[in-house]
Amino acid sequence: FAPKQLAGRRVLITAGPTFEPIDPVRGITNLSSGKMGYAIARAARAAGAEVTLVSGPTALDAPHGVRRIAVQTAQQMHDAVMAQVPGQDVFIAVAAVADWRVANASAQKLKKTGDGDVPQLQFEQNPDILAAVAAIATQAGRPYCVGFAAESENLLQYGEEKRRRKNIPLLVGNIGHQTFGRDENELVLFDEHGAVQVPRAGKQELAQRLVAEIARRIS
Ligand code: C5P
Repeated sequence: FAPKQLAGRRVLITAGPTFEPIDPVRGITNLSSGKMGYAIARAARAAGAEVTLVSGPTALDAPHGVRRIAVQTAQQMHDAVMAQVPGQDVFIAVAAVADWRVANASAQKLKKTGDGDVPQLQFEQNPDILAAVAAIATQAGRPYCVGFAAESENLLQYGEEKRRRKNIPLLVGNIGHQTFGRDENELVLFDEHGAVQVPRAGKQELAQRLVAEIARRIS
């Protein structure tokens, strides 16, 4: 049995994509299976934590012993996270949140017209959930914040930049962008001491390694 490194800790995780409606039957979304976030939720639970998983639409079952709050849009994910964040020790933002939502979404299904006219979509920016949690004043009890980055190139340079810009102690980089829906992944951890590589492994094993790294940093 693994030691219960997170016994008595509360961990909040976002996972999966968000879905931003265009009309009742259409929308825009990001590529994310949710596997990495769900694996981390499972690993945190196995390490003894009380885990809340705020999840966009995925095909995955809620991990055993994990409280799942299902959401669709980035705004709903933001609102659920902000409602849950008081009292959390760790926040891990794994979700692939849509950066924009459709400002002029239609309540009725948009009709195809015979003359080839296409709908004109307008976008507005979604809230940055990780930045919102990282901005909570420490006296108010900000959790230890962990972010993810999926850069296609120059990860080593952009990773540390992103960690500083997001004002978070730990940023996890996915190496390459071949990870979507796969069971394997390769990570780089950026913290104030630099970058450490976690070699290619199954997502569940990587999740355990990451949970151990987080537990070590907050102990
Ligand atoms: O800036 P970028 O989207 O690359 O940052 C990725 C990190 O920020 C991930 O941890 C992701 O879950 C989080 N994020 C968020 N809310 C957004 C956009 C990204 O929490 N609107």
